[in-house]
Amino acid sequence: MTKYYFIKTYGCQMNVHESEKLAGMLESLGYAEANEMEKADVIVFNTCSIRDGCEQKVFGNVGSLKHLKKSKPNLVIAMCGCLTQIKGRPEMITKKFPYVNIIFGTHNLHEFKHYLETFERTHKNIVDVWDKEGEICEDTEITRTSGYNAWVNINFGCNNFCTYCIVPYVRGRERSREMKDIVKEVECLVKQGYKTITLLGQNVNSYGNDVDNPNVTFANLLKEICKLDGDFKIKFMTSHPKDLSSEVIDTIANEPKLAKVIHLPVQSGNNKILKKMNRNYTREHYLDLIHEIRSKIPNAILSTDIIVGFPSETEEEFMDTYTLMQEVRYDGVFAFMFSPRTGTPAERMENQIDSKVKNERVNRLLKLTKQITKEKTKEMLNNVYEIILTAKCDGGYTAETLSGKNVVIHTDKEYPLLSFHNAKIINVNTKVLEAQII
Ligand code: 5AD
Ligand code: SF4
Repeated sequence: MTKYYFIKTYGCQMNVHESEKLAGMLESLGYAEANEMEKADVIVFNTCSIRDGCEQKVFGNVGSLKHLKKSKPNLVIAMCGCLTQIKGRPEMITKKFPYVNIIFGTHNLHEFKHYLETFERTHKNIVDVWDKEGEICEDTEITRTSGYNAWVNINFGCNNFCTYCIVPYVRGRERSREMKDIVKEVECLVKQGYKTITLLGQNVNSYGNDVDNPNVTFANLLKEICKLDGDFKIKFMTSHPKDLSSEVIDTIANEPKLAKVIHLPVQSGNNKILKKMNRNYTREHYLDLIHEIRSKIPNAILSTDIIVGFPSETEEEFMDTYTLMQEVRYDGVFAFMFSPRTGTPAERMENQIDSKVKNERVNRLLKLTKQITKEKTKEMLNNVYEIILTAKCDGGYTAETLSGKNVVIHTDKEYPLLSFHNAKIINVNTKVLEAQII
């Protein structure tokens, strides 16, 4: 009889991709994916800890499994990811949720298969969270779940220690994969028909910094990947402004295979707060980068992350972020209220901001973002963007821009699905943008 698995993923693309690896391991053991939790024999929670809200969501969902476990005693429940990696959390989980059978962390994801086999044999709960990163594990099974896009890790961990961020504590120090392994993986994926390849790292721009070879850089990696044959596009995330070099910007500008889409988290527009955040750049340097990107890549799509209510942030300092947003006019903004994280320096800083104030500030930013997005959508009229045809529809095709905006194309011509085209936006007043292939 077939056994089923269900993976619940929280958090960022890194976690989404790691769930693909968990799924790969489960399928190699003969499990099939269940479309609902109730049907599963194994449930895995791949967790996130970036903000307290993420943790609470996970605990709420794990808590509600108590009844399912009662009615299905053979159900195996596993938890992994950034939350289980926090000091003290595994002990808290075993106490509060004793029906969780397997707990592991971010550094030993590849051991999951072994833990599951052991548990099925012994029926003894397993808690194994490594506090240090090990060697990069290259030969993991994988079941990809993201359509025509494939995620590819290029580096793991983070050395930046932004004072608000828990990532360096739960994902360890920076480790880069070998360039030849990454290029080989991309080549394989392109041959399999994947159309966009998204390179993943906490800070892709510091790719190679941990390697004693000056040729191992992010710019060189991009250039090597662009030499591969095939009709595909490369995206990447996330970039740290302090490490984004002119060489990388030039490479994006010059290589047709690179999507003109850049996510460049600014976090704050105020120099004092940026310093307290340990971001290692100034508002002026950041705006210079934006200027360089816009002058070299005129149609670049830019997005950012922002934290409001960092400890001691005054109204004036917040307004520096607000005016920076007005100045840059991003295509996408992810704004978060500062959330104190266990063990980070910002958790212990004086002058924590009241949640009412944070809430009010985030709402002001969201209102501004909404207005700018509306204006920017209107400004797309008559501009040309690269799109990919995703499906046939009544009277033409549905498509997506490389930044993920939905587009419809009315045509009686035939095009292969998942082909790239340049398309001019001809109507911005409908619910979905209308474009014409040129
Ligand atoms: N509180 C709020 N937002 C945070 N982020 C990271 N840590 C925190 C925190 N403690 C945000 C940053 C980062 C994004 C992934 O999450 O903006 O870029
Ligand atoms: Fe966190 Fe800063 Fe590293 Fe990004 S660069 S993962 S925000 S510590």
